[in-house]
Amino acid sequence: MPHLHIKKFNKLKFPYVNDGVNFNFIANNANRDDEKLISVTIENEDFFLLVREDENKKLLKTDKLTRPSSTQKIHNALLSYAKEAKLEILDSNVHHSTKNIHLKEVNALKNIEYFANKFPDVDDICIEVGFGSGRHLLHQAKGNPDILFIGIEIHRPSIEQVLKQVNIQKLDNLMILDYDARLFMELIPSNIISKIYIHFPVPWDKKEHRRVISTSFIEEAQRVLKVDARLELRTDSENYYVYSYETFINFKKISLEIKKNCDIVISSKYEDRWKKQEKNIYDVTMINKIFSDNLKIDGNFEFSEFKSSYEKLLKLSSITKKYDNVFIHFERVYTLEDGIMLRTSMGSFDRPEHLYVIVRNKDVSYYPTLPLKSKSNLVAHKFLDGVLNG
Ligand SMILES: C[S@@+](CC[C@H](N)C(=O)[O-])C[C@H]1O[C@@H](n2cnc3c(N)ncnc32)[C@H](O)[C@@H]1O
Repeated sequence: MPHLHIKKFNKLKFPYVNDGVNFNFIANNANRDDEKLISVTIENEDFFLLVREDENKKLLKTDKLTRPSSTQKIHNALLSYAKEAKLEILDSNVHHSTKNIHLKEVNALKNIEYFANKFPDVDDICIEVGFGSGRHLLHQAKGNPDILFIGIEIHRPSIEQVLKQVNIQKLDNLMILDYDARLFMELIPSNIISKIYIHFPVPWDKKEHRRVISTSFIEEAQRVLKVDARLELRTDSENYYVYSYETFINFKKISLEIKKNCDIVISSKYEDRWKKQEKNIYDVTMINKIFSDNLKIDGNFEFSEFKSSYEKLLKLSSITKKYDNVFIHFERVYTLEDGIMLRTSMGSFDRPEHLYVIVRNKDVSYYPTLPLKSKSNLVAHKFLDGVLNG
């Protein structure tokens, strides 16, 4: 993660503009002095820089929730802030010359809004969830130029590595998305996907709610797959295999194929490692047997006029509200010069969204972007609107 280790943090006078980088405002954690967020806009993209001031280390770095589409923007923002605020840099992994040309050259990298606005309208679409080094995804895209492949990953270095290959191999049938695949599934139209690959997902033995496979994920997978289309799960974890099998088997109108220690067209980095260790590899393939109803998501993310008080909002820090299928957790509260900002996680229990909400006078808004328009987020939004005014 890009960061600057600094001697002392200095505050600029906000708003502040320098060479295309806009520093808009600063948010101070209301419960601890050592954390601040600085709102930045570069080329119409908004994100935060995070200031951490521990006793023995002071850092200016990326805020994980609002990472922009390119690392280059983070580097620009960090160096620009440091220069303008005259910060003394003790150590850093950010350099002026760092340029990821691949992020600029290829347009394979899409953001979630691209898919939310209009999902690609082509006959054959395959998805790979958590492509890692991308060996399988790139191999498939190269060998099947008439199929559109969408690769979803949350690990930024893997994404950048694969984008580099997309560029080198000049692949024009591959789109890459930096997003949680569990949420992405909710906005795919019904009955359009030809195949879903999930190869060696993280087993998360101690945090099952973080697993990709869950009842709600399979529900969405069944809805988006064409009739007779397949979801291919490949895992080296016996635990994950048993858990997945037990989750799949509860579904009607699917058939399941189980295989053990079978080779597939290409072996991933992980697979090579497990094979060397002589671990068993399990394939669980779900074949969809129903034609699903069209995806229908009604509602919006508007807030009512704010009528409560800032004092009440300040007390929300660390509070969790649970409802039937959704929840809202107020992770942190920040004070702004002219308002309050809340960092929340909300939505369904197994695929929550992490968001900032800003309250200024009577206005409430999400920052910097709206939640993904999914059923669970819309329900959670209604509850959130109620809590803020409660
Ligand atoms: C163990 S690696 C396997 C990578 C690759 N499929 C392979 O076989 O080498 C699992 C990958 O899934 C990604 N991942 C985990 N949860 C995810 C999610 N909810 N959405 C998208 N990617 C995810 C991780 O970042 C990681 O790169």
